[in-house]
Amino acid sequence: MKIQITPTPEHAKTPAPRTLKKVAGRRVFIKSYGCQMNVYDAERMQDVLAPYGFSKTDDATTADLIILNTCHIREKADEKVFSDVGRFTKRNKKNPLIAVGGCMGQAMGRRVMQRAPSVNIVFGPQTYHRLPEFIARSGFDEGIRKRVLDTDFPALEKFDALPKQGLRGPSAFVTIQEGCDKFCTYCVVPYTRGVELSRPVADVLAEVQHLAAQGAKEVCLLGQNVNAYHGMGEHGEEWNLARLVRAVAKIDGIDFIRFTTSHPSELDNELINLFAEEQKLMPYFHLPVQSGSDRILVAMNRTHTANDYLNAIDLLRMARPDIAISGDFIVGFPGETEEDFEATLQLVRDVKYASAYSFMYSPRPNTPAAEMQDQVPLAIKQERLARLQALLTAQQTAFNASFVGKTISVLIEGKGREEGQIRGRSPHNVAVNMVGNQRLIGQQIRVNITHATASSLFGEIELEEAA
Ligand code: SAH
Ligand code: SF4
Ligand code: F3S
Repeated sequence: MKIQITPTPEHAKTPAPRTLKKVAGRRVFIKSYGCQMNVYDAERMQDVLAPYGFSKTDDATTADLIILNTCHIREKADEKVFSDVGRFTKRNKKNPLIAVGGCMGQAMGRRVMQRAPSVNIVFGPQTYHRLPEFIARSGFDEGIRKRVLDTDFPALEKFDALPKQGLRGPSAFVTIQEGCDKFCTYCVVPYTRGVELSRPVADVLAEVQHLAAQGAKEVCLLGQNVNAYHGMGEHGEEWNLARLVRAVAKIDGIDFIRFTTSHPSELDNELINLFAEEQKLMPYFHLPVQSGSDRILVAMNRTHTANDYLNAIDLLRMARPDIAISGDFIVGFPGETEEDFEATLQLVRDVKYASAYSFMYSPRPNTPAAEMQDQVPLAIKQERLARLQALLTAQQTAFNASFVGKTISVLIEGKGREEGQIRGRSPHNVAVNMVGNQRLIGQQIRVNITHATASSLFGEIELEEAA
């Protein structure tokens, strides 16, 4: 879809400028919903806006520009955005420009414009490199407010157009693949992010090198099906994820590598064995399964059975016995019986998860599952979710408790929640909090784990570097 402008009547004759002025002291507030790809996109939006004088603020009430970087994955995510538009507009006395980006912007741009008259700009995940142009077109510099809707889909164009990524901490995200064409019957991602496309190897390595040169110690490679990565190498040859990880591991300064999210049908032995071979690859694997029932997996179009999944987990554990397994689950998919749900519980018991995300099935517009018969009543979905989460929480608590009394390496990423605390993540991707000096941010330190909860670890620094 091409850029559309709906001018307000009083400014109908004012030609909209295309270039945004640089004015110092402007503030942008960005709220991201949804997955880590959105977190990455939000950071890149800051990089795009910085040359125009925008600095980041965490206080929406003082912002000149408010961007809601939305998610469309479940119904709740959509509703939250509409209530946030109202909340942020009311508390801000500056008459801020309001922009809605992300997957919901892409999927229902017109509806957002109709339902939220205070929204000035709507755009999707593939065009945020054009934000300065959208803002200029809105009449922002002139103090006027036109409405701009852009849900264009120029695949991968943004990566060429974006400025270099600024470093925000010792751990950085790098999107290496966008979109998805798996078309699971419940999911909107193929419609919001487009077909699956991998960034060329040289682009990815250049971005990681730039981050490393600024001081990044860890990278997390992102994609909706990151293990289906098939980027083009220098001589036109295709690289898989394992080869890319090995190349990233050779970059000086990068000591820790993670990737997410993987699809069970795309898992190959080369990647599995990499967990045994590549010391910089952290022992954590997020491998969503959604259901333990083959009948439901077929209805979901997941292209693998429960057994395929369990076999993959066995192979991963053979390669790296301490690997932490994480997953995603959907309960109450149309037609799910108590027996199907029991199969999911059994799979969870078999796998023993270190962490997991579980959701009630949410019917999404224009997806095949939303039209299926036998939608499961809300009360049953709620009851199943509670049972599944009780089991997963118990497993997660046990996993975290297994570190109490042990000493682990932690990359310190920032200040902790409480005064005097710092925080990082363990190799197994568990949050670790401890009392410590902020100058340790960016360093890898040894921590004695003293206490664990279902969601995090607490410890004491074993050896602090000499001052
Ligand atoms: N590409 C990844 C994850 C995509 S979205 C994968 O295939 O694993 C993240 C998670 O949201 C999914 O794994 C799924 O568990 C959940 N999800 C997606 N669509 C949903 C829906 N309609 N209702 C409930 N949960 C959903
Ligand atoms: Fe959605 Fe399935 Fe693609 Fe994951 S693999 S993004 S769940 S369609
Ligand atoms: Fe949501 Fe889009 Fe991510 S729908 S989960 S923000 S890809």
